Amino acid sequence: MSFSDPIQLAHQFLEGPVVRPALVWWRLHRFLSPQGYPAYFGVFPSFAAARAWLPHSPGFDHGPLATEYVQVRTQKVFAYDYPVLWWLQHAFRCGAAHVLDIGGSVGVHYFAYRRYLEMPPALTWHVADLPSIVSIGRTLAEQQGISALTFTDDLPLALAGEHDIWISAGALQYFEHGRPSGLLERCAMRPGHLVFNKLPLYEGEDFVTTQNIGEGCYAPLYVYNRARLIHDIEALGYRLRDCWPVHERSLDLPGYPERSLPSFSGLYFDLLHQMPGLNS
Ligand SMILES: C[S@@+](CC[C@H](N)C(=O)[O-])C[C@H]1O[C@@H](n2cnc3c(N)ncnc32)[C@H](O)[C@@H]1O
Repeated sequence: MSFSDPIQLAHQFLEGPVVRPALVWWRLHRFLSPQGYPAYFGVFPSFAAARAWLPHSPGFDHGPLATEYVQVRTQKVFAYDYPVLWWLQHAFRCGAAHVLDIGGSVGVHYFAYRRYLEMPPALTWHVADLPSIVSIGRTLAEQQGISALTFTDDLPLALAGEHDIWISAGALQYFEHGRPSGLLERCAMRPGHLVFNKLPLYEGEDFVTTQNIGEGCYAPLYVYNRARLIHDIEALGYRLRDCWPVHERSLDLPGYPERSLPSFSGLYFDLLHQMPGLNS
C-alpha cells in the first residue's frame, strides 16, 4: 500500500481503534430505529441467542409486512427472478407440475410469474409461510378464484406432501431449521428440481446474524458457507446445474467486514438419483 493513497488512508482511519467502535455504535443505534430497515447487525451463536438480544417483535408473522408483497411483488418480476423463471420453465417442460414454495409470502412468485410462464394445466402451487401471511395469501387466491394456489403454515405437513419442484427465495435463511439438506432429509418425496434464490452464501463459516425487517420487526437469520451448503444437497443425489449472483441483495455487517457479502446467490439443482432407503 502507498501511504500517499488517500482512499487507503481514509479506510485505515475508519477501521482504526477510535473510529470503528464509534461507527459500530452509531449503526447499532440506527439498526434499532425505524430507519434501520433493512440493515443487519451482530454475530450470534444461535437463533435463541439472537432472539434474546433482539427487541421483542413478532418477526415475520406480522400482517403489515405483507403490504409491499401484495402491492408490488405480486405485480412485477425483478432482474433476479429471471434465472428462476428460466429453471421453472425447464422443470415444467420436464413434466413437473407440483410446486412447494417455501417462504413464498402471499404467493408472490405465483402471481408475478404466471404472466411470464406457461404453467402446466395440472399445476399445483403450495406456499408454506407464517400464519398472518398465509391468511392474507388465502384471501387473495380466493378473491381471484385461483384453486391451484394453496397455503399452509405447517411446514412439516407441507414436507409430507408430494412436490416435484421446490422453490424458495430470500426465505430459508430465516427458518431456524431451514437448511435445505435438512428439509430434504425430512420430506416424503424428494423433488426433481430445487430452485433457491436470494440466499446469503459466502466462503467463511456459517453464522447467525439479525436483520431489521421493517414495521418494527426483527428476525434472526443464517449466513451459510457456500461450499458446504451445496455439498450437503449434492450428497442427497442432486447435481448443481446453475448458480447466479443476486446483486440486488447484499449484507454489510458492522464491525465484521470479513463476514459481509457483496451479493446473495441463487442455485438450481436437479435430482440425479434417489438415495437408497428414501420414500420407502
Ligand atoms: C424476505 S421474505 C421473501 C418472500 C418471497 N419469497 C420473496 O422472495 O419476495 C421471507 C419470507 O419467509 C417467510 N418466513 C420467515 N420465517 C419463516 C418460518 N419460520 N416459517 C415460514 N415462513 C417463514 C416470511 O414470512 C416471508 O414471507
